[in-house]
Amino acid sequence: MTKQVTAIIVGAGHRALLYASFAEMQPERFKIIGVADPNAFRRKETVERFGFGEDTCFESAEALAATGKKLADCIINGTMDEDHVPTSVPLLRLGYDMLLEKPFAINETEMFYLLDVARENNAKVMICHVLRYAPFYRAIKDILLSGEIGEVIALRMSELVSYHHAAVSFIRGKWGNSDLCGAPFLLAKCCHDMDLMIWLKGVKPAEITSQGSDFQFAEFKKPAGSADRCLDCAYVDTCDYSAKGHYLDHPDRWAFYVWDAIEHIENPTLADKEASLRGNNIHGRCVWNCNHKNIDHQLTTVNFTDGSTGVLNLIAGTAKPDRDIHIVGTHGEIQGSFESAKFTVRTIVPSAPTGYEERVVDLHMAGDASGAFGVHGGGDIRMVEDFVAILEGNEPSISATSLDDSILGHLAVFKAEEARKERRVVNILPDLVRHGVLRNSDMDAEVYKRIMNAD
Ligand SMILES: NC(=O)c1ccc[n+]([C@@H]2O[C@H](COP(=O)([O-])OP(=O)(O)OC[C@H]3O[C@@H](n4cnc5c(N)ncnc54)[C@H](O)[C@@H]3O)[C@@H](O)[C@H]2O)c1
Repeated sequence: MTKQVTAIIVGAGHRALLYASFAEMQPERFKIIGVADPNAFRRKETVERFGFGEDTCFESAEALAATGKKLADCIINGTMDEDHVPTSVPLLRLGYDMLLEKPFAINETEMFYLLDVARENNAKVMICHVLRYAPFYRAIKDILLSGEIGEVIALRMSELVSYHHAAVSFIRGKWGNSDLCGAPFLLAKCCHDMDLMIWLKGVKPAEITSQGSDFQFAEFKKPAGSADRCLDCAYVDTCDYSAKGHYLDHPDRWAFYVWDAIEHIENPTLADKEASLRGNNIHGRCVWNCNHKNIDHQLTTVNFTDGSTGVLNLIAGTAKPDRDIHIVGTHGEIQGSFESAKFTVRTIVPSAPTGYEERVVDLHMAGDASGAFGVHGGGDIRMVEDFVAILEGNEPSISATSLDDSILGHLAVFKAEEARKERRVVNILPDLVRHGVLRNSDMDAEVYKRIMNAD
């Protein structure tokens, strides 16, 4: 019989608890035996939910590491972006394997530091690139691997962030100020998409360009006469970004972020929620006056080592959320929408009246809203299951991402930020070679020479 995998939660927030729920679904395979979190309320809730003793309850990752012992097989690290590397390193040194949230580092230096520590300790570290596990992207990957559309020439992807998601996360919310949270918009939102693009293409990225700006939420665009808090504002009933419209008229929308400030109140009433928005809840602030420091749209291009290209268009403020994708290959194309969980496969057929044949693949599940397997189109829980299977000694699935693999998407994002700020084409390959992610011999010599000499 396979041994049960044991885990300690580090950072008992929204994400880690979602992943931990796999222990409730398959208790014979996975067990939560401890928690580390400075938040006493969350610690207590976690102890009660998973039923372990106070002796495996710690006030921080640092306190857990200070035991100097490995108390479980693995860690679920769901701390915030800037805490990932500092909390992970001492635990990896104690021999834990780890399921680590994205973005797993907020700059290149700490990213490669984490890579070195993981390698030195032979740790299995899986980054939570949950979309690789969403049936939508997995089905696309399978078709690409089957060769049906030939060799991929170009990928076009959009990440369309709805106005209410943008407001709660990237304007008023935890990722609204890149100086404070450490993660610029592209890193916080699209290290997934960049990872997907590179995984789908299956070839290393070489050169990156990027452009973007804060078009809509710059402070000078604040409507004349508006107040600093929505519930005091003359535009409270008319503004697209009114906290009333977003969070009181729809009290369950993004509830896990908006009502963090009153999470200690069991079943808060509408009056509790209104008082919170009038008080110091960050989500009650005007989107044009909330210490926002970020851009709201960004266009990034990738030139792969085989000469194919990718475009990622990240836009905040759309009416409807979606991730759409269009991949053109030498024999056909794939075009679809993640939110509708459908894509079309079109192949070149010169004899057909239209010149092509097409079929629709319908995954019959809604995008980000699907329940049973967590959000992200069913990717969340499938990913945890794969992580557990790997720790049980099974072969990784096609979606599994090693740290060496996750480096690529994150590095592409860091380089995109460099490209955007410095307005230039940035070459990614020298860093990959320097850090042993890529050997010169892995690439076609001519392409390598051309790209390495480009800087
Ligand atoms: N994979 C995805 O698709 C996805 C989606 C959303 C968010 N995320 C990422 O998940 C991570 C967590 O987000 P969240 O909303 O769950 O965060 P959260 O704020 O709800 O939880 C973070 C927890 O970490 C705890 N913490 C802080 N310092 C700590 C320390 N030193 N030791 C132990 N615990 C500590 C906090 O008290 C808090 O409870 C973020 O990095 C975020 O970017 C990933």
